[in-house]
Amino acid sequence: MRLIIQENYASLSKWSTYYVASKIRSANPTPSKPFVLGLPTGSSPLGMYQNLIDLYREGIISFENIITFNMDEYVGLPEEHPQSYHSFMWNNFFSQINIKPENVHILNGNAPDLKQECEQYEAKIKAVGGIDLFLGGVGADGHIAFNEPGSSLFSRTRIKTLTTDTIILNSRFFDDEVDQVPKTALTVGVGTIMDAKEVLIMVSGYNKAEALVQAVEGAVSQKWTITALQMHPKSIIVCDEPACDKLQLGTYKYFKDIEKNNLDYRSLLL
Ligand code: GLP
Repeated sequence: MRLIIQENYASLSKWSTYYVASKIRSANPTPSKPFVLGLPTGSSPLGMYQNLIDLYREGIISFENIITFNMDEYVGLPEEHPQSYHSFMWNNFFSQINIKPENVHILNGNAPDLKQECEQYEAKIKAVGGIDLFLGGVGADGHIAFNEPGSSLFSRTRIKTLTTDTIILNSRFFDDEVDQVPKTALTVGVGTIMDAKEVLIMVSGYNKAEALVQAVEGAVSQKWTITALQMHPKSIIVCDEPACDKLQLGTYKYFKDIEKNNLDYRSLLL
């Protein structure tokens, strides 16, 4: 696993943006050979989404032949609800780039048969040849997508009950009304994420410091589902300085040293 330590959220977002852009550019996607992205919601990817929009507007990248699969969606929240992940993605990203609506995939948390919805989602990912690059954030308790502590590290797309901690944290998007936050969500599994050819996780802020230390120094454990990335052949965590607060000094220095020629986003050639 690589660990790219950036100074702050802005440079973390910039580095992640250029990594994604360089992957898209080098894949040179076509209609018959599209590039498949896995995408997250949350505050962590917002800076990256804005930068990707800017690169699109500057004509540096195109989303014409990109297929996307979102990580998760609340159950029972209408698609048009401002806090649904459908709304989040269209408002913050898709409406501002040239992605084809038919290439966007987001789990339907209102499907009549949720189990079937999840199985079909897995089948759709398989049908396009799998995910090339899965992007993500992490919860304070180390969850990736909505794979809360205790999720199997081999899990597939399914319905999950959210922890009280996650519900309380996410209530900030629901006018701080805990009761308004859905209690369940559909989410890709840890196994679904692990099947991607590459995974890039953004970790920002002091409240993610424990998740980061577990991800980098902890043992692989279902208690911190992000630790599964240690078993992935090509995973990258991009973090900022505040998130490094609990890393051992030796760990911090090790990754700063080994990645010293790669920390400037301009090293990611477009
Ligand atoms: C939610 C999402 C995750 C996200 C996490 C952290 O639980 N399901 O995909 O990584 O929140 O969100 P934020 O980036 O806002 O801290």
